[in-house]
Amino acid sequence: MSGDLTSQVLNALDKAEPILSTETFPGVPFAELKAVLDRLGSRSMVEYKQLEREEATLEPEGQSIADNGSHEARVFEALSKAMKALTVQEIQAAVGDKNVAKFGQGKAMQAKWIAKAEGGKFAAAVDSIKDTTREQLQIIQKERTLPDAKVLADFKKRKLIKTQKVISFSITKGPKFALELVKEETDLTEEMLATGSWKTATFKPYNFNALGADQHAGALHPLMKVRHEFRNIFFEMGFEEMPTDHFVESGFWNFDALFVPQQHPARDLQDTFYISDPKLAHKPRAEDSEDKKDYDTYFENIKQVHENGKYGSIGYRYPWAEDESLRLVLRTHTTAISTAMLHKLADKRGLDGKPPPARYFSIDRVFRNETVDATHLAEFHQVEGVIADYDLTLGGLMEFMTIFFKKMGIEDLRFKPAYNPYTEPSLEIFSFHKGLNKLVEIGNSGMFRPEMLEAMGLPGDMKVYGWGLSLERPTMIKYGISNIRELLGHKVDLNFIERNPAVRLDKS
Ligand code: PHE
Repeated sequence: MSGDLTSQVLNALDKAEPILSTETFPGVPFAELKAVLDRLGSRSMVEYKQLEREEATLEPEGQSIADNGSHEARVFEALSKAMKALTVQEIQAAVGDKNVAKFGQGKAMQAKWIAKAEGGKFAAAVDSIKDTTREQLQIIQKERTLPDAKVLADFKKRKLIKTQKVISFSITKGPKFALELVKEETDLTEEMLATGSWKTATFKPYNFNALGADQHAGALHPLMKVRHEFRNIFFEMGFEEMPTDHFVESGFWNFDALFVPQQHPARDLQDTFYISDPKLAHKPRAEDSEDKKDYDTYFENIKQVHENGKYGSIGYRYPWAEDESLRLVLRTHTTAISTAMLHKLADKRGLDGKPPPARYFSIDRVFRNETVDATHLAEFHQVEGVIADYDLTLGGLMEFMTIFFKKMGIEDLRFKPAYNPYTEPSLEIFSFHKGLNKLVEIGNSGMFRPEMLEAMGLPGDMKVYGWGLSLERPTMIKYGISNIRELLGHKVDLNFIERNPAVRLDKS
């Protein structure tokens, strides 16, 4: 169809120019014609201007006047034809329309085409008249407009015509006008070179202004982009990534091994999601793990350190329940993984026959039974790091945190003493938030307790720093999101996910 239209346009121009699209191609959809003209225009075969004009069409009454004459003219014709004076009723009968006769009579009187005669009758007062209204309406019928805007407005007011905006194109020949659309080559092919047809071929010029076609590609979620940045920071500081594929852990790994007492409120149903089927895990067993470690001793150590104390600790002094430690939970922190990794580290031997220093990190989901609001979901991503080494001090932890957060563009840290069952000392890390104009907590950290480390077989002089923060908070700050539900869950705007830019933490 548009191929036809292309040659129709070219043929019409060959005969006469300019052509007005609404006249030459009435009824052709605007978009279709524009596409053809743009295509011809880009090859300089035609030029066109877009015109917008008001077009008038006759309303039924206007049409009737154009066909039969104005009311006043019809009254005059009736009297003129009768060649005598007529009564009002006679005029009506002659005109054949009561309303036309009534309005026409008044107007014809005004125009002095007719006059009152004896006996309340009317008679023609002139020999002939010029029915301008009819003529003007006939012009409108043909031209769809009138030069006299005042008359047009008056007709519109009298509801004889209506007007509407019409867009049309005034089309003329372009410098490369031709009757045929020459095929423009977009590629120089091997065949064209071989046959020599490239010499005569017409090549389509490059359109450097064209935007590339929108490619439907996958998109990384903002959280994954920020995670990527964090991973890079960890890698450049010599960290090894921990495997985070256990969403479900036993209470042992999530809590007990971390010296979290079994009565601790974090272990309540209100805070932690427990698995209902199956409810319990196996006791940690050598046969379940690649390392074939002795888990029985470890398990026993944990029981003792909770119940009676060990490694210089007096313990919590309560009867420790094995079953409680085997309850399956959705992990509440990735520290469960750090614990398993440190437990493996305890078996490794460096050149000096002791476990070698290690740096581990992980970034993955954790689950907490939280009331969902603008800043909390029942799950979030935790960024966690641990550093195991000899002769570590609290000052070293603070120094490390300063360097670590500086790499994310966060400076001027404040440390506040805090409490974690598994670290001593523990520090909450704060930073001044310029937007909120206050100190905000950005992480939690500490030095793991001997109750945790020595129970897994690490030597007493090996110390371990640990810290954790959420991935969501820096992501929301980076992307200017104030409600976490815009970032995760069914209310997320996919367009936002697809279009958002890559993130760069302002590293220094
Ligand atoms: N597990 C802590 C939390 O969930 C973070 C942390 C990790 C703290 C390691 C100290 C040591 O907030």
